[in-house]
Amino acid sequence: MNSFEINKIAGAVLACLLVITGLNQLGGMLVSPKKLAEAAYKIEVAEEAPKGGAAPVAAEPEVDVKTLLAAASIDGGKKSAAKCVACHSFEKGGANKVGPNLFAIVDAKKGHADGFAYSDAIKKTEGPWTFESLFAFIGNPKGYAPGTKMAFAGIRSAKERADLLAYLNSMSDSPKPLQ
Ligand code: HEC
Repeated sequence: MNSFEINKIAGAVLACLLVITGLNQLGGMLVSPKKLAEAAYKIEVAEEAPKGGAAPVAAEPEVDVKTLLAAASIDGGKKSAAKCVACHSFEKGGANKVGPNLFAIVDAKKGHADGFAYSDAIKKTEGPWTFESLFAFIGNPKGYAPGTKMAFAGIRSAKERADLLAYLNSMSDSPKPLQ
């Protein structure tokens, strides 16, 4: 093949491309695609409660912790406590790790473990660790105690939290009645 033939082929290819582009443009001019005013398929997404609001804990739907506790499972709670064991021990006399030992935490005062350096965030929240305050804290640690050094996102499921509380309550010399 000599260079003249190669030129011819290249020319033909170019011409072809031009025609295709031209047709495409022409088509676009004849049929102008209309944009839909709305998406044809709408996907409903539940609106999340605003994050970082003034009172994130109050924004949660109200749940009656006592009712949930009455149906809670200690075994279920023991399983979800797997999310805590990297930082907490639960047994009597267990060591403080990244977080404090949690034996007998229900009804204990905030910052109950001796020799653990708590943040002010925990120490300055009011009252003892009741079922209700534990429920709120475990659901949203940073919402309940802004500035806490417990680096844990929280457990959304109310049932799972109730199970956990039943387990935490069982890890005590004098477990409280659940109802
Ligand atoms: C990444 C480590 C980490 C994980 C995971 C974690 N915690 Fe903590 N937790 C901490 C630290 C650190 C503190 C101390 C917080 C402070 O001083 O601000 C704490 C404090 C607490 C306290 C307060 C104790 C007291 O004596 O006042 C409770 C209750 C608690 N955690 C429960 C849990 C539970 C239940 C889980 C699992 C669902 C969990 N934590 C998961 C690190 C963790």
